[in-house]
Amino acid sequence: MRNIRHDFLWGGAIAANQAEGAYLKDGRGLSTADIQPFVPGAKPTDLHFNDMDSETFKRYKNGEYYYPKRQGVHFYERYKEYIDVLAEMHVKTLRLSISWSRIFPNGDDAVPNEQGLVFYEQLFEYMKKKKIEPIVTIFHYEMPLNLVEQYGGWTNPKLIDFFENYGQTVLRRYNNNVKYWIIINQINLVHKEAFASLGILKDQMENYEQAKFQALHHQFVASAKVTEFGHNLNPTLQMGVMLADTLTAPYSCDPADVELNFRRNRMQYFYSDVLIRGEYPEYALTYFEDRDIRINMTEDEKNLLRNNTADFLAVSYYWSNTVKASENSMDPNTTVKNPHLKVNRWGWSINASGLYLCMSKYWDRYHIPMMIAENGIGFKDELTIDNGVRDDYRIEYHRDHILAMKEAIREGADIFAYCSWAPFDIISAGTAEMSKRYGFIYVDYDDEGNGSGRFHYKDSFYWYKQVIDSNGEDV
Ligand code: BG6
Repeated sequence: MRNIRHDFLWGGAIAANQAEGAYLKDGRGLSTADIQPFVPGAKPTDLHFNDMDSETFKRYKNGEYYYPKRQGVHFYERYKEYIDVLAEMHVKTLRLSISWSRIFPNGDDAVPNEQGLVFYEQLFEYMKKKKIEPIVTIFHYEMPLNLVEQYGGWTNPKLIDFFENYGQTVLRRYNNNVKYWIIINQINLVHKEAFASLGILKDQMENYEQAKFQALHHQFVASAKVTEFGHNLNPTLQMGVMLADTLTAPYSCDPADVELNFRRNRMQYFYSDVLIRGEYPEYALTYFEDRDIRINMTEDEKNLLRNNTADFLAVSYYWSNTVKASENSMDPNTTVKNPHLKVNRWGWSINASGLYLCMSKYWDRYHIPMMIAENGIGFKDELTIDNGVRDDYRIEYHRDHILAMKEAIREGADIFAYCSWAPFDIISAGTAEMSKRYGFIYVDYDDEGNGSGRFHYKDSFYWYKQVIDSNGEDV
């Protein structure tokens, strides 16, 4: 039986484009996240803009709406206040990302933007002072917009060099302050988030599937190069791969449901199989062959992947779904809701047992250290008259998921961190709403960016602090 580590990293996770704002300040360039609008009145389940075609792209780029990620929650200017309030909750870690266009405004610049580099330097110094360990994501759903317009996003192999240069720059500069690095956020979500994660406009590709997998291959190669650089630079660095857990359950014991579920889940391991085991697995090569998907891959790239595998696996877990052969296909975007589960207003189901299952499965498959990079659920919170939030629903969600994680640990899974998404309210990645709140700390801005910006402690703030203080005993 394994116990929770005594140095377990309890904390939270955020992303630069959802928190920082200051989108053109101090030399930052426009990023793909800056053109995602908030559309008032749209149905919560319809608000999702990460998949873009050229028309949508032009419309948003020309600015017809309000773009919440340009302001975020003003983390750029107010980072000390945010770090202070996290320190007050006793968090041990904050996972955050670096905004690529803050360091290389156009992505292809010859020299980095010094002001951008200084910002993160000061941030990491301040975190050190407050004893909060940074876990840094190098690429989290944003890239310089120029790389989409001039190069076609990650479909272009030149992106490997640009990303390698960016990765080397931040590793060189921060390797004394940052030990844990996640190279690419949720590398497996290419089907749902093709614009956000690959910078691909879907109507510009003759063969969308082919384009996505080729672009993904470029991300694999770029990841391996950055991993290699990090290991050579400083052998104490831990270089991680990250998945969004999308493992499903068969809708029924009908063998057709069971088989489809198995085939789909195996393709979900494909991403981490490549980056942890170091090669394209046979089942994936067969999948590509069957669909006439041809990935350009050199022998050098194969060697690079083989020799530069990840040190740890980071997993984000929110919900779970099921698969029914009569309604679904191999497309991971097609699922059937599990009738046994409750969902929030955005349709995200609640299933703590799914976290136990996935962490145990990943452990059984890979046997490398793992972390929970994101876990949480969005709710519309109401401030009470005394400026609190009675969020028992959030406490219940996190409690059940932490218990599920502990069970996976008890049975052997080596998990070193739990990061709630997100410790304070930030802009939603998918819907660009502020009112889809995840935090233990209420941040007073609304969907249009108005508000005092004040912090209000939700009930969950005190609860999480107690979980941290007891190292997960008192949940
Ligand atoms: C994860 C992303 O997939 O989901 C985060 O890595 C995101 O960036 C989180 O915020 C929750 O999604 P949303 O759309 O509710 O913000």
